[in-house]
Amino acid sequence: LAAMAQVQLEVDSVLTGEEEDESLLLSSSKLQTREGWWTTFVLYHGCWMDREAAMSVSLVRAQFVPRDDDVLLATYPKCGTTWLKALAFAVTNRFRHPVVGAGAGDHPLLTQSPHDLVPFIELPFRHIQPLAALDALPSPRLLGTHMPHHLLPPRVNELGCRIVYLYREPKDVVISTWHFMNKVIDGFSIDFDKAFELFVDGCSPFGPIWNHCLGYWNKHVEEPDRVLFLKYDDMMADPAGHVKKLAKFFRVPFTDEEVHAGVMEEVVRLCSFEKLSRLLVNSSGVVDRVGERPMKNSAFFRKGKVGDWNNYLTEEMAKKLDAVIEEKLKGSGLTL
Ligand code: A3P
Repeated sequence: LAAMAQVQLEVDSVLTGEEEDESLLLSSSKLQTREGWWTTFVLYHGCWMDREAAMSVSLVRAQFVPRDDDVLLATYPKCGTTWLKALAFAVTNRFRHPVVGAGAGDHPLLTQSPHDLVPFIELPFRHIQPLAALDALPSPRLLGTHMPHHLLPPRVNELGCRIVYLYREPKDVVISTWHFMNKVIDGFSIDFDKAFELFVDGCSPFGPIWNHCLGYWNKHVEEPDRVLFLKYDDMMADPAGHVKKLAKFFRVPFTDEEVHAGVMEEVVRLCSFEKLSRLLVNSSGVVDRVGERPMKNSAFFRKGKVGDWNNYLTEEMAKKLDAVIEEKLKGSGLTL
């Protein structure tokens, strides 16, 4: 409680005006809460997260300074963030860091986690570590976020920053989330039935998942050239096609020469689950990228398969989640 109060004091000291209301809201008992995950979750502007994440999001909204050439990689947690970060990094940095020929053996992805090469805007929790590290990055920046679209700092849209959103079959997401949470939070474990119930009710980290994907989907429909909407399962089926699509979106399309040299295939191979998960940097060690919450690097790599939900969900559970998703996405044009 003392630590929480200290955090609150720090947040209060940097927020002014309208933001002060946010800090009051965050410390108040007005927010809806729910138990079950590792700590109490609050419903912050329609999105479930723990109170510290909400403080971080609030600070980012108040203080993050976007640039018009920023590209955001937005995901709901466990939808393939690590993969997307690796692909985007490899594609956009291929002139500095070639993936074929001389120099390929020194590629940063061989020794650094995709999460360190492409930082999250809202992590480490910004009341613990300020945003200065992001300001110091050279343009154009590649940045990750789990924030739902409606909570992004308004300037992101005003400036026309481009966004890549990666979606995944929610039945696979709930399985991945459950495994991840049982691995990463020290001393915390949750029964699968309980995790499933919370997820289906919409109460999961940055949930409900349907609001998360719909926010980005609707923006994609409105501005398809600015918001690219990808699906994990499609990317698994045709990774090279997606690498090509990403390069075009990042305005660094592959030349015929690169295509002939097999650069696209090499990006796919370098960023594949098989390759990344076996690297020392991703298979060992513990790093705190959140703030007082060290996590095993290996926790970000489990199976990397489509349809693993078949091994866990009963028919009844699968039907229940499918029905909820179908109902929530109805009329949006978004399908799996
Ligand atoms: P599973 O738990 O189903 O295996 P995130 O990166 O958003 O945390 O998502 C993690 C999920 O992506 C995990 O799914 C993980 O195994 C999978 N993943 C990690 N790296 C991957 C890669 N290079 N290719 C495909 N899937 C990957």
